[in-house]
Amino acid sequence: MRRFLALVLLILCLPVPGNAEKLICDASAPVHEISPTLYGLFFEDINHAADGGLYAELTQNRSFEYQDLTAPSAYQHLNGWQFNVHPEGNGKASIETDLPLNENNPTYVRIRADKAGYGFQNLGYGSSAFRGGIVLREGERYDVSVWLRGIDYGGNVTVTLTTKAGEALSDAAVFTPGGAWEKHAAVLTGRSSVQDACLTFVMDAVGEIDVDMASLMPQDRVGADWPGGGLRRDLVEALRELHPRFLRFPGGCIVEGSWVWDNLYRWKDTVGPVEQRKENWNTWGYMQSYGIGFYEYFCLCEELGALPLPVVGSGLLCQAREPYESPMNDEGLASWTQDILDLLEFALGGADSEWGRLRCEMGHEAPFDLKYLAIGNENWADIYFTRYEKIRNAVKAAYPQITCIVACGPVAEGSLFNASRARILRAFPDDTADEHYYMDSDWFLRNTHRYDLYPRSTKIFLGEYAAHEPAAGGRRPNNLYSAMCEAAYLTGIERNSDVVTMCCYAPLLARLGMDQWTPDLIWFSGDQVVRTPNYYVQQMFSESLGDEIIRSELTDDQGAVLRETASGLYHTASRTADGGVIIKLVNVSGTEKTVAVEVQNGDFPGAAAGGMKMLSGQMQDTNALDAERIAPQDMQVTFQDGCADITLPAYCAAVITLP
Ligand code: AHR
Repeated sequence: MRRFLALVLLILCLPVPGNAEKLICDASAPVHEISPTLYGLFFEDINHAADGGLYAELTQNRSFEYQDLTAPSAYQHLNGWQFNVHPEGNGKASIETDLPLNENNPTYVRIRADKAGYGFQNLGYGSSAFRGGIVLREGERYDVSVWLRGIDYGGNVTVTLTTKAGEALSDAAVFTPGGAWEKHAAVLTGRSSVQDACLTFVMDAVGEIDVDMASLMPQDRVGADWPGGGLRRDLVEALRELHPRFLRFPGGCIVEGSWVWDNLYRWKDTVGPVEQRKENWNTWGYMQSYGIGFYEYFCLCEELGALPLPVVGSGLLCQAREPYESPMNDEGLASWTQDILDLLEFALGGADSEWGRLRCEMGHEAPFDLKYLAIGNENWADIYFTRYEKIRNAVKAAYPQITCIVACGPVAEGSLFNASRARILRAFPDDTADEHYYMDSDWFLRNTHRYDLYPRSTKIFLGEYAAHEPAAGGRRPNNLYSAMCEAAYLTGIERNSDVVTMCCYAPLLARLGMDQWTPDLIWFSGDQVVRTPNYYVQQMFSESLGDEIIRSELTDDQGAVLRETASGLYHTASRTADGGVIIKLVNVSGTEKTVAVEVQNGDFPGAAAGGMKMLSGQMQDTNALDAERIAPQDMQVTFQDGCADITLPAYCAAVITLP
């Protein structure tokens, strides 16, 4: 049975005289076109969104590169691993760097077995109740691979999925290491379904071997032929169901780098064969394998039917994390700008160009559909805008068709925001301004008219936003109220979608028990996905996107226009190219409301069947593993000569479609 089982109700609605609220929509009065790219996604590897999340890799720290740039210690290289698993086999594991697989992958582990039967294993993503370890399913097939080198070793290495104690949970594969680095691969089939399996290697002889890049992925994944290895299917489907028009990637803060230049996200580190990608410390507290690198992000965009919107650093480290190393000087900036131009060549260039050729070699001959480039994330002040200008001018000179996106700081209002905005309007009016704000839920209700008076020429990308509820137990909840406030705000965004051309919630994904930020749109465990109320708002608004806003007005029964904040009702109306009408209504008043909806001048004579998707519940309701309290319900609405009474529960978002 489908997870969000739709309750199909038939509501026969006849106009009832004396309704307190009336919504009149004029289908013959277009106001402006709706941006066709309005709703999209922002993906950042925060909360283990990529490694331990969307990336199909089930092992953690597969290449022993794990290292916290802020507090390095040798031990971190063994994070996620357990050695000497089998008591009958004595031996020793040491971290080595002398003869690595390649210079980008400098660390490996040398295992010396003093007795046959020495075992070592990868634990996957943790072992607590939420973290789970490696989720194994009976009958499912898994691709396993590892790079091995025998030093003085004449035996085999057996690989099996096991319990922590070494009890087999799958069939086994046997690898024979040679004297040079070599990749060994096999397919294992699960014999049991467990949440905490380990990938276990056992040496059957005495001697030494070197080990690197131990990988395990379910065969059922998206993008198995991408060089990075592919993505977790259930999470890709959750993204697909949001109908995203664009994907902003790969961050966020991780793009900029924190405190030291070594931490900068360099796209070239993330492409090519996966064992040659140069892992980097993640500012959110863990290592990025880059198994989802720029190539995979572009492929994911194609998979989702979304336009790619990459973000690159602007020549200064994260401004919010002072003190930090000096910004790039002119020389550094020139070379960084070349890196950015190389990225554009990677996406758009032909096989006869250096970086276009790499894209072809990686498996994608056609250029990617790249139209946008964001330069900087949440930056501000002269130190940023002078660097932005240099980079964007170079980009525009080489690729005039690219829309450059300029950061407008990390806040919604105040002097820093005002100065950034003024500077953008003055210096970069043809670029798109990237606004970010995380505000309390009620702020969103008070600010649905934020963009009404913006000049229409300079476009806005609302690149990060979310309604923040007070934290409980250190966590801000994804409750229905926050989702309703976002829905109300989105009615204002749609009404202003001639100037706000794109928007995306943030952050997108969080692994339960491994999060650094709340709230998040989608939560997941090793094998389950939790769609939050906020997720369903995004989905409902995105899947029903009209082509043009039409005039609509909410009045009382005397015809006086009602203010949103007073009535608690928020709305927007649009029409589609084929004559349909879409009405979005949000009730945050705290009481049930019946709104008399009247669609004037539409082609809906007599009784017309409409559809309605409704999200409602208790204010504080949240969704959890195995407890989906809030999910949209599908209903039918019968309009009579364009009129219907719509009853909205106390906290409710409804999308009504008249085809
Ligand atoms: O979305 C989480 C973080 O919030 C992003 O990395 C950053 O851009 C913002 O401050």
